[in-house]
Amino acid sequence: MCGIVGYIGPREAYPIIIEGLKRLEYRGYDSAGIALFDGNDLKVAKTKGKVVDLEAIVEKEITTNGKVGIGHTRWATHGVPNDVNSHPHVSNSGNLAIIHNGIIENYESLKQELISRGYTFKSDTDTEVLVNLIEDVQKQQKLKLGKAVQAALNQVVGAYAIAVFDKNKPDEIVVARLGSPLAVGIGPKEDEFFIASDASPFLEYTKNVVYLEDEEMAVIRFHKPIKIRKIEDDSLVDTYVQELQINLEQIEKGGYDHFMLKEIHEQPKAITDTYRGRLVRNEAIIKMAGVEDNMKRFLNANRIIIVACGTSWHAGLVAEYIFEDLARIPVEVEYASEFRYRNPVITENDVVIAISQSGETADTLAAIKLAKSKGAFVFGVCNVVGSSIARESDAGAYTHAGPEIGVASTKAFTTQITVLTLIALRLARAKGTISSSDFRTHLLELEMIPKKVEKALESDANITTIANIYKDVSNFLYLGRGYNFPVALEGALKLKEISYIHAEGYPAAEMKHGPIALIDENMPIVVIATKKGHYEKVVSNIQEIKSRKGKIIGIVTEGDTQVRALADHVIEVPDTLESLSPLLTTIPLQLLSYHIAVMLGKNVDQPRNLAKSVTVE
Ligand code: AGP
Ligand code: GLU
Repeated sequence: MCGIVGYIGPREAYPIIIEGLKRLEYRGYDSAGIALFDGNDLKVAKTKGKVVDLEAIVEKEITTNGKVGIGHTRWATHGVPNDVNSHPHVSNSGNLAIIHNGIIENYESLKQELISRGYTFKSDTDTEVLVNLIEDVQKQQKLKLGKAVQAALNQVVGAYAIAVFDKNKPDEIVVARLGSPLAVGIGPKEDEFFIASDASPFLEYTKNVVYLEDEEMAVIRFHKPIKIRKIEDDSLVDTYVQELQINLEQIEKGGYDHFMLKEIHEQPKAITDTYRGRLVRNEAIIKMAGVEDNMKRFLNANRIIIVACGTSWHAGLVAEYIFEDLARIPVEVEYASEFRYRNPVITENDVVIAISQSGETADTLAAIKLAKSKGAFVFGVCNVVGSSIARESDAGAYTHAGPEIGVASTKAFTTQITVLTLIALRLARAKGTISSSDFRTHLLELEMIPKKVEKALESDANITTIANIYKDVSNFLYLGRGYNFPVALEGALKLKEISYIHAEGYPAAEMKHGPIALIDENMPIVVIATKKGHYEKVVSNIQEIKSRKGKIIGIVTEGDTQVRALADHVIEVPDTLESLSPLLTTIPLQLLSYHIAVMLGKNVDQPRNLAKSVTVE
């Protein structure tokens, strides 16, 4: 995620763009930049940091006159946040400027091709490859910018929302979209156009907006009505101009009431973006540079030690099941805060995986520094490119979840599991502990997960009804077995941290060792009872609970009848492989905690006593 803004019209572009970028900073910023055309030349200013830092750079470096311009707040995916990797990126000739939201999967091969044709690159980004590809096509085929963008995008694999302009033809901006949002605001007199990731930057100027759909593009020109075309074949597309009825705050939250709910619903895209470019189905391979370059380390490791906190620690527990089950590598999962102080035995034959959404959690950072001091190899799984933990790690793989604003982690959890699953499958393949057919089955099923998450999200109404019944209880229990024991812990944490209701997660079989004494008719128990993995045993646990009058909320596989007959309520999730089931079973638990917290009037996005990133001990 990031923010793109553009303007072309009779007004001065700079104030519109800079204020628009500030409106988009919630979409993630680690750097910002602007390109303006003043009638004579292309002026570019960009910097690591926030939009206010960009304003300081602009004051020093460029004049701000000009009626055409583009601006960007970056959420890095390729290339750490620094001045050079910031957008806009300019082509080798200096003529073209581009801003981009998304990921170009095949940028490496395109880059090598361009280098062989004499192109040079200043940044590590995929975006700089795209602007030079457009320039190369423009030159080779002598095309106007719009056609060059079209031809270039037909060579690209990945996701993009882009705005490009050519200083030699400053009366137009070319926009295109696949997988990332792009809105075009149309001025009241149709003589000015606003481009942005969402409508928040131009809401005060116009409420008339056209949202490009995937695989659509447009050449936006002064005083010309917008024409939208299919990228693939240049065919014209009907232009549907909407009149916006929503306010600024609703736009930032994508029309959802809270960032947490928006992020729960972003999970299909976040999971897709996370395996994009890494899961290559038709070649049945997984490509992750951080793993490939350190394969010996992983394969010769005595064990993998996972260090993390909170939800990330729960993702680590899921990884323990996956790594041991599929790759047969011993795994230990440690709370970072305990690991750093208990004088653990660490050797240079250990691989430490540090999991952190923010990449700034003090305990996790300290744990990996300790591990490195003892010679261990550290692999980071973070969501923020260039974060402290990412930089401290010897290698790593980013989740591409986009900014997670809500304090309660949701899409970070499922994208962490996605990355860890890819790593485990890659290592299992390398070790030969998984057959090629099982490997392929896992890849195919992982690609089905985003659609299955969409399906799981459809249970929202049923979950809301259940939330309303149990919103006033004082305690909850969450039970799961195998891969879903960590999901039970995660479900309990979600409820605790946003509704302030006490909740505990347990392995389902553990009930008989004490906790079952808690059960009576006032105790709701969420039981994860999907068909795969110890199903019959979980059904027995449900019967034990039922005989003590506990209220049972079963998370079941679609079509389940056995648990449905026993439980007070069931919430269905699509069937999937046992190893991938946490990606689905966590969805109803996120929604249950969200709806209970909302019904209790809690501050869902900023719960009391909590911070999004715990950068202190
Ligand atoms: C989870 O919902 C909480 N926000 C918290 O437990 C969080 O997972 C923990 O603080 C770790 O944060 P990190 O992933 O940024 O390191
Ligand atoms: N992939 C591009 C980069 O890393 C764009 C990231 C974004 O969407 O901000 O610069």
